[in-house]
Formats: sequence, C-alpha cells, structure tokens
Amino acid sequence: MRTQIGIIGAGPAGLVLAHLLHLEGIDAIVIEDKSRHYIEHRLRAGLLEQGSADLLIETGVGARLQKERMYHKGIYLKFNGRLHRIDFEALVGQGVMIYAQQEVIKDLVAARLEAGLPLYFEAGDVAVSDLKGARPKIRFTHQGKKQEIECDYIAGCDGFHGICRPSIPAGDLQLFDRDYPFAWLGILAEAPQAKEELVYTHSERGFALLTMRTPELSRLYLQCPRHDDIAAWPDERIWEELRARTAGGEGWHLPEGPIVQKGITPMRSFVVEPMQYGRMFLAGDSAHIVPPTGAKGMNLAIADVRVLARALAAFYKSGRSDLLENYSRTVLRRVWKVQRFSWWMTHLTHLYDSDNQFDRRRQLAELDYVTGSRAAALTLAENYVGLPMEWE
Ligand code: FAD
Ligand code: PHB
Repeated sequence: MRTQIGIIGAGPAGLVLAHLLHLEGIDAIVIEDKSRHYIEHRLRAGLLEQGSADLLIETGVGARLQKERMYHKGIYLKFNGRLHRIDFEALVGQGVMIYAQQEVIKDLVAARLEAGLPLYFEAGDVAVSDLKGARPKIRFTHQGKKQEIECDYIAGCDGFHGICRPSIPAGDLQLFDRDYPFAWLGILAEAPQAKEELVYTHSERGFALLTMRTPELSRLYLQCPRHDDIAAWPDERIWEELRARTAGGEGWHLPEGPIVQKGITPMRSFVVEPMQYGRMFLAGDSAHIVPPTGAKGMNLAIADVRVLARALAAFYKSGRSDLLENYSRTVLRRVWKVQRFSWWMTHLTHLYDSDNQFDRRRQLAELDYVTGSRAAALTLAENYVGLPMEWE
C-alpha cells in the first residue's frame, strides 16, 4: 500500500489529523491496534476548550457535540468550606464544554467510515522503519495478513504506551518528567451534579473534583496515594471521602447514586524533545503527558495536530517545508505553557506534605489570591479556556 501520511493511533490526535488532512485533499491511512468498540467506549477526558470544540464544529464533525455538549461559563474553586466562582466569560469572553472524549472519537470514526476512508482496527505487530529515508514504512498484521504501507510522512499519534516514540534512538530524544506522590481515583456515578459547573476542591483531606458527563451522570475524582489499589476503595469509602472533602457552605449537598465505573490513574508530567525524527512526527500523548488537573490532555493533542495538518498542507500545496521543519519548535512552545499551567493547577489544589504548615498557609493564600484578585483569576481563566493557537 502507498499513502501520503501514515497515521498510527485512532485517539483524538490521530483522528483529528486524518480529518483535517482529508479536508485538505491529502491521503492518509489510520492504523489502530484496538477494536472500534474499545476506543469508542474508553472512559477518559471530558472537557473541551472552546477552540477545540469550534474546530470540530467548523470542520463538519460537531453536529452531535452542538446538541449534547454542556457549555460552562466558569468553574468553582472550593476551599475552607466555601465556594468561589471564576467567571471565564466575564474575564476572557469564552467558556468550556463538557463532551466526553469517547463521543468525540465516535463522531470522528463515523465521519471517516462514512466517507469510505481507510481506518484499520485491531492491527497487530505495528512497527515503523526507514524513518530517515525518503519513504518511511509502517508494517502491521491485519486479519492474519501482513501489510506494509509506504508513506511520505508518518504521524506517531499512538499515545504514551505506543511504539512510535520508542522507535526513535534513545540518544536522539531528550526526556523531561516529573512524578507526583498521588494519583486520581475517578468514578462515574448515576447521580445529578452538586453544582451546574465543575468544582475543584482543596481540603485538608486532599483534593476532590466534581465534574459530569450528562445532567444525570456525574464524574467525580479524589486525590489518593500513588500506589493505592482500587480494591481498598469500596463504594461507601469513596462517598464518605467525597462528602468530607467537599463539605461546607450554606445549602451544600452532594447528590449520591450507584457507582457504575471506578479506576485509579497515576499522575505525571512528561515531555520529549524534539517531537520529530526524520520523516516521523509525534503528536499528543506519544510526546507529552500532563496531570489532568488543568483538563488539557485531549486539547493539547488536538492543538498539536492542527499545527501539523497546516504544515503538511503548506508542503503539498506550495512545496513549503519550513513549517514542517519548525513543527516541533512551534508546538513545544504551547506544550510547555500547558505543562506549566497543569503543574500549577495541581500545586494550587492538591494536598502535598500536610505536616509542612508553611506550605499549607502559602497554598491557602494562593487560593485566596486567585479567587480574590481579578489579575490572578484572569490568568487562570486565560489558560483554562485555552491559549490562542501559535502557527509558527
Ligand atoms: P490516545 O487517546 O492515547 O490515543 C492513542 C491511540 O493509539 C489509542 O487509540 C491506542 O489504542 C492507539 N495505539 C497505541 N499503541 C498503538 C500501536 N502500537 N499501534 C496502533 N495503535 C496504537 N485528560 C483530561 O484532560 N482529563 C481526564 O480526565 C483524563 N483522563 C484520562 C484517563 C486515562 C486512563 C488516560 C490514559 C488519559 C486521560 N486523560 C485525561 C488524557 C487524555 O485522555 C489524553 O491526553 C488524550 O487521549 C490524548 O490523545 P492522543 O490521541 O494523543 O492519545
Ligand atoms: C472530566 O470531566 O473528566 C475532567 C474535567 C476537568 C478536569 C479533569 C477531568 O480537570
């Protein structure tokens, strides 16, 4: 087989890239190692920046999103038992959307298959080669048959555990990372929300986040020790902890209901540089991971491929290769700003060393400052709704 762009991974990065390339008249083949059902039901992120949502709408894959999304004009920060609202719309004139990642995936998969464009599910033994040559290759097995695709370029959109990043010689990449002493325990519960917008809660028992998927389905997270086993968290313990952490304030009530899913996700910050090796570009989680506190993982993956699609379009339309050559440098500027923001939101809201009273007082002062100063709230709002795109 032969294509212009071989895309490995059908997550937000791979599918948005394939979609944007199709609109530019550029051929691509998408290779995914999981089944369609698996990727359409994998529970992950839920929050779209306005820019990400606008892109999906403007490029014709946002009809369901427009109907089903929950638009939020702000968020709440809760500490010392009191709610404080950050009004994004008043501060920066934009908002954010709740629309689950697996719904974005369903919309993009449907659009691709309806247009009759190639997307291979359940591909085995996926490997890349000749990355420094003029015709890089992807090999995989599909329905028992060995396949080979010759490409102009490869997009490594295969997430943190994919094969693209490890195919680059270790000496050619610089890794930057930071681990956190905690993880997030996440649940999906058949219960309405405590508030109509997200509530980020700092308490002396640790962080909790109240978010949602639909008006009847809540998504709730708790900071827990990094190596905790989910078996140590029976449903009643989870509710007890959520109640205790979020308590306080007049008329406050946390609605409860059956827990339909639960799991623990470790938190890390990670970046590789550069995000290119020969004719392979890395995008999304294959090149960087952020802690979920800033709700940035999926949005950053989409921002990467917007820049990549534009650079590839410039190359095929007018032979311009400078945007491709600068891809890594261009996207890393955003990547590092988003790393900074996600790290900062994590430090602002999570409980670190509860014995260090200086840090506790400093953290509470920072929460007080962020919710009391227009300048500080504006900084949070500007980053949370999504920084403007930078194209070169
Ligand atoms: P992915 O979505 O990981 O997509 C990569 C795709 O490549 C996958 O479909 C995978 O199956 C496929 N693949 C992997 N290896 C191969 C291979 N060898 N060959 C072919 N295909 C391959 N972000 C938030 O903002 N909020 C959250 O609450 C949140 N929760 C998360 C929970 C979990 C468990 C995880 C893992 C991530 C979460 N994230 C969250 C982050 C967010 O979901 C990711 O940043 C986003 O999915 C990145 O998109 P991507 O396309 O780069 O990678
Ligand atoms: C989610 O809805 O899953 C979500 C929202 C905001 C975050 C993290 C996760 O910061």
